[in-house]
Amino acid sequence: MKALVLAGGAGTRLRPFSYSMPKQLIPIANKPVLAHVLENIRDLAVTDVGIIVGDRSAEIVEAVGDGSRFGLRITYIPQTEPLGLAHCVLLARDFLGEDDFVMYLGDNMLPEGVRDIAAEFRVRRPAAQVVVHKVANPQAFGVVELGADGSLLRLVEKPRVPRSDLALIGVYFFTPAVHEAVAAISPSARGELEITDAVQWLLSSGAQVTVSRYTGYWRDTGRVEDVLECNRDLLRDLEHSVEGVVDESCHIRGPIVVEAGARVTRSCIDGPAIIGAGTVVEDSHIGPNTSIGRGCELRGTHIDFSIALDGARVSHVTGLHGSLIGRGATVGPRPDRTAHHRLVVGDHTHIEVSA
Ligand code: DAU
Repeated sequence: MKALVLAGGAGTRLRPFSYSMPKQLIPIANKPVLAHVLENIRDLAVTDVGIIVGDRSAEIVEAVGDGSRFGLRITYIPQTEPLGLAHCVLLARDFLGEDDFVMYLGDNMLPEGVRDIAAEFRVRRPAAQVVVHKVANPQAFGVVELGADGSLLRLVEKPRVPRSDLALIGVYFFTPAVHEAVAAISPSARGELEITDAVQWLLSSGAQVTVSRYTGYWRDTGRVEDVLECNRDLLRDLEHSVEGVVDESCHIRGPIVVEAGARVTRSCIDGPAIIGAGTVVEDSHIGPNTSIGRGCELRGTHIDFSIALDGARVSHVTGLHGSLIGRGATVGPRPDRTAHHRLVVGDHTHIEVSA
């Protein structure tokens, strides 16, 4: 079995981050979502992985390389425009050949993995096996409708009036039968070749399509809120480890990770929290549910339920909550200490200040 990972797309819901980085590289528990995805694929004993990359391919190639770090062999497949999930299968035709494959959306987090579901597919080999999860907002996803006996009746992409609360999640298993389906369908109203329509095409033409329920933790990390919540949920299992320096004046509660080269002084770290390699924290209160990237500087700052990406600098700001701070971003007081706010804010940035 091969794997096809989708790491192109526009990422409009993750602006402004998606202007400067592919959304699949946003860190969750200080590791890019895509790295979590590739580790899950390795756990399925798959080694040949095609990654669909869009106009931010250079950063993905830099982060993943030839895949040897993950025990994988990577083939990059460029997509010049995000024309849909089924379009990605069309583009990957040569890479996939006549092999079965798992298609994995590069922005989906399933920390418990899909080993059992993959094993089921390997035994039964239906034309397609989709994976569903009960959600509160099915209209935001592909939705399946099941019969009383649990068999699949219909699949609809982002229905306005969903007929069930079972959403398609970002893992699909296919035999080569899917290639005829992706070639047969037409673009949807949003102009994309939908994989949901390709699976519906298989079903309507009498092919076997099975549905597996995934009951573990799942998140599509498409929005900032999802990223922060997913980070919080993954940090729940954090194993305490301090390789950096935490001085004696610090107060530590709960599990924390302080990576090598990080230095924490006169601060309170409320776990779960991660302080990345080479980061300096002084006179601050960090956590809970917070990941600070590598090479950051935090001084006189209170921050919780947040993520700071590599190289961020925050000084003398208290009450930061639910914040996502970009790479190399600076947040701090005016040098002249006047009461004005001065904002240099990029396109589609979101800032909330207390009145
Ligand atoms: O997260 C699960 C949902 O994913 C499913 O319930 C939907 O049925 C499915 O269509 C998909 O919906 P999204 O609207 O969330 O897909 P999104 O555009 O976010 O793309 C998912 C991943 O695929 C993401 O990593 C970007 C990548 N992608 C997307 C498109 C449209 C590509 O690589 N190329 C593309 O053309």
